[in-house]
Amino acid sequence: MLDGKRILLIISGGIAAYKALDLIRRLKERGATVRVLLTKGGAQFVTPLSAAALSGEKVYQDLFSLTDESEMGHIRLSREADLVVVAPASADLMARMAGGIADDLAATALLATDKPILLAPAMNVEMWAHPATRANVALLEARGARRVGPGTGDLACGETGPGRMAEPDEILQAIADFFARPTPLRGRRALVTSGPTREAIDPVRYLTNTSSGKQGYAIARALAYLGAETVLVSGPTRCTPPPNVTVQNVTTAEEMLAACEAALPVEVAVCAAAVADWRPTTKPNQKLKKEGAAPVLELQENPDILARLSAAGPKRPPLVIGFAAETENLVENAKAKRTRKGCDWLLANDVSPESGVLGGDCNQIHFLTPQGVEDWPSQSKDAVARTLADRIAAHFEGGA
Ligand code: CTP
Repeated sequence: MLDGKRILLIISGGIAAYKALDLIRRLKERGATVRVLLTKGGAQFVTPLSAAALSGEKVYQDLFSLTDESEMGHIRLSREADLVVVAPASADLMARMAGGIADDLAATALLATDKPILLAPAMNVEMWAHPATRANVALLEARGARRVGPGTGDLACGETGPGRMAEPDEILQAIADFFARPTPLRGRRALVTSGPTREAIDPVRYLTNTSSGKQGYAIARALAYLGAETVLVSGPTRCTPPPNVTVQNVTTAEEMLAACEAALPVEVAVCAAAVADWRPTTKPNQKLKKEGAAPVLELQENPDILARLSAAGPKRPPLVIGFAAETENLVENAKAKRTRKGCDWLLANDVSPESGVLGGDCNQIHFLTPQGVEDWPSQSKDAVARTLADRIAAHFEGGA
């Protein structure tokens, strides 16, 4: 089932390290190649000799080992794997990963790798509950790390609660699930716009809106997860770039349009950005001074990126999807907008302040297609993204 898969197994310090030996055995039984990297802490609990005997491979421990580096540099070590598994993942190692610290071989390999990472955390219940650990785990997951466990039960320290490393069977299942996941969009190219745009009034002031970019980032992540080669053209946001997505950062609507056109051809384009509809006609090189009467801003319309991408032509993506941000007559306005802009599908959402959609984590969508309107339940922006990505995959699987 794992025939030919290459696993880099990082064993960090913790009593659960002994279970990692069993994991090596099971991975090998299923045909995987396992290379073990042992931290200093990990070596307190399992010996390099047992890890080497079980894996049938050399065990790596030291960042500055001349022999290791000449045989296999740490960068190669981190890249010559299909999946990096950290079991147990101690609070300390995850904190170093979150901070980008590379102070030993394990942390350096984790910083240098371009491969997916699966974490199997193990620690004391209070350490797991600590806000620092919570924040570190959330950050690592936002960057694309997967996680299995921890489970709840009696811990080696005598306390009870969450913190127990997942059993080798569960970790094995998570590894198998990772390799078995369907990638129906493999071989397809996707373009996503996200975030607000920022239109300069003068060198220090600008017009913008309250879009956080969360929905577009979630869509790019979901499309990439299904295997699409994804380009995300993003206005200024605080979002973390999703794994395996090419991010093009832009500021203005005109830059966003240029970046989108440069990304063509694609099979699917999703315009989730809250593009500023207007920009100041003039952009003085100097800061406007508070002299005399208040200035009157003259505005001109920005290009409509969704309408441009939807316009017929040799480069029109076969599937163009837009959003409709409305504060009244949601479905009626959205239907008119879909026709006006010429896109294929449209996700309409209520962005009135009471809805909490702009900047928030949840979204309720009315999904418009040429076939009609579907009301999706209120769900997280991640769930909206996954639902949409699945629909896109189904559309192409249907022979489009
Ligand atoms: N959009 C775009 N470029 C623009 C304006 C909007 O690509 N200059 C896209 C958005 O990304 C979204 C869709 O058009 O997918 C609808 O955006 P929305 O703000 O709801 O509509 P507007 O075009 O601004 O129309 P109105 O202000 O009349 O509601």
